[in-house]
Amino acid sequence: MIDVDRAVRDGFFDPKILADEDLYHEEQEKIFRRTWLYVGHESQVAKPGDFLINYMGEEEVVLLRDPKGVVRVFKNWCPHRGNKVCLFDRGNARAFTCTFHGWTFDLNGKLIGLGAGREVYGDLEQEMRKGKVLPEVPKVSSYNGLIFASWDRDICSLDDYLGDIRPYLDVVTTRPWSGGVEVLPGRARWFFPTNWKAIAENWITDDYHVWTTHSSFFRVAKALGPVSPLVTSFVNPDWAVRHTVNVLVTAPAGAPHGLGAVSVWGDHRPGTEYHHEFVLNAGRHLAETLGREAVEWYDDSVKRITEYFGREGTAKFCSMGNMTVFPNLSLEFLAMVLGGVSLIQWHPRGATMHEGWEWVLVDKNAPDPVKRFGQRLVGLGQSPGGMIMIDDSENFERSRDNLRAALSYKDSMEAIPLSVEAPGNPSYLQEFEKAGIDLRKAFPAGKVLPGAQEESGRAFYNYWKDLMMRP
Ligand code: FES
Ligand SMILES: [Fe+2]
Repeated sequence: MIDVDRAVRDGFFDPKILADEDLYHEEQEKIFRRTWLYVGHESQVAKPGDFLINYMGEEEVVLLRDPKGVVRVFKNWCPHRGNKVCLFDRGNARAFTCTFHGWTFDLNGKLIGLGAGREVYGDLEQEMRKGKVLPEVPKVSSYNGLIFASWDRDICSLDDYLGDIRPYLDVVTTRPWSGGVEVLPGRARWFFPTNWKAIAENWITDDYHVWTTHSSFFRVAKALGPVSPLVTSFVNPDWAVRHTVNVLVTAPAGAPHGLGAVSVWGDHRPGTEYHHEFVLNAGRHLAETLGREAVEWYDDSVKRITEYFGREGTAKFCSMGNMTVFPNLSLEFLAMVLGGVSLIQWHPRGATMHEGWEWVLVDKNAPDPVKRFGQRLVGLGQSPGGMIMIDDSENFERSRDNLRAALSYKDSMEAIPLSVEAPGNPSYLQEFEKAGIDLRKAFPAGKVLPGAQEESGRAFYNYWKDLMMRP
C-alpha cells in the first residue's frame, strides 16, 4: 500500500497516486463519500416527478423532485439484488420499477410493489418494515441552482464547503446581467484516459500548459482573421500571463477550489481591450446570422453587461476562464453575449480513466437560436468534439502509459517524483497594481495569484492527502 503521507510533500508527488488501483478504491470512500458532489441543476428537476441520473464517484444516483417539491437523491440501487431501478438519463416519473423481479419504488424511495414477487413474499407491509427502500443520500443542498449531495451526514454546510468560491460562482452560474441560466437538455459524455485528479487540478493551476498544448488552436484561430486579442495573445505566453490571474480559495472549510486564467474588467493596458471589445462586440456579426430576435437580444445584452460591470475602469472579475470546485466539478466560462457556460464533471472510472460529462448553461431568457449557438460554441472548444480538449487528451493519454509504468518502481517517490513546484511570478501582479488596477476589488475573496503558478495544484494535492489520511 502506498504511504500517502510520503507520496505528497513539498511540491512533489508520487506518480503512483495517479495510477494505483488500491488507492483509487480508497478514494471512493474517503473522497467521494466525504465531500459535497455536484449532482444537477434546479432547472433540470423543476416539477415533482422530474428526475435526472448522475454519479457520485462510481455510484449512480437518481436526483428527483418528490411530490412535496423537495429535491432528493437516491442511489440507483434495488435492495433486492442491486439492479438499477431507473434506466433513463432524465424524465418525469411517478415510480421506478426494477426490471429484474419487478419491485417498484415511489418518489420517496418507498417499496410499493413486489411485482411477481407478491406471490413469493406475500406481505408487502412486512417487507417495507424490514427497510427495503431505495438508499437515500442523506445530505442534499443547493447553491445558486447548483445541487450538491453528500453521503457524509456530518459534513459541514454547503455554504461553508464552497466558502469563498461563492462570489465567483454567483457570476459564472447565474450570469446576473441576463436574469439567470438554465441547463440545456442532453450532455456530452466521453472517456478520457487519465486519473480524475490530473484533469481537475489542471483547471485551476495549469495556465502554463496552454500555449504549448493548445498552440495549434491559437494559430488556427489567428489565421481565421479578426478574433479576440485574448485568443491570439495566447500565442504569446508572456503577454497572456501578465494579463490574467489565478485565484485560490481554501476558506472556510479547507477544500481547495480555484479559478484559472481569469481577467479583469477595467484592465485598460494596451492590448487588453478584449475585455470590453470582445465581450461586447465580438459576436454581433454572428448574431446577425441568427436572425432579428438574436440581434435584439445581443444589443440589449450589451447594455445590461455594461451596466453590470460598471463604467470603464471599474475593476471587476470578468467571468472569463476556468474554475474547479473540489473534487471533480469544473466550469469554463466567458462573459460574452453569445457564449454558453461549460459545466463538466470528471467522474472517476478506475485509476487511469475518467468519464467526462459536460452540460451547457445558457441564459434562460435568450431566444432559442442564441441558446443553440451557445451550445455550439462550447462544443467547438472545450468539448470532446472541439478543438481544445483533444489536445489535452493526447497529452494525458501519453502520460497515462508512463504513470502505469511507474507502478513497477519499488520507490517511485524517490526515483521519479512529479512536481507542482512553480511559484509563479509575483511581479505580474505588481504590473496590475502599477496600472492602477485594484485586484482586491476585482477578486474580493481568496488568494490572488499570478498566472502559470502551481500553488493551487499543491493545495489540491495537499487537501487530497489530508482527506486520504483521515481514518
Ligand atoms: S433486483 Fe430488483 S427486483 Fe430483484
Ligand atoms: Fe488544456
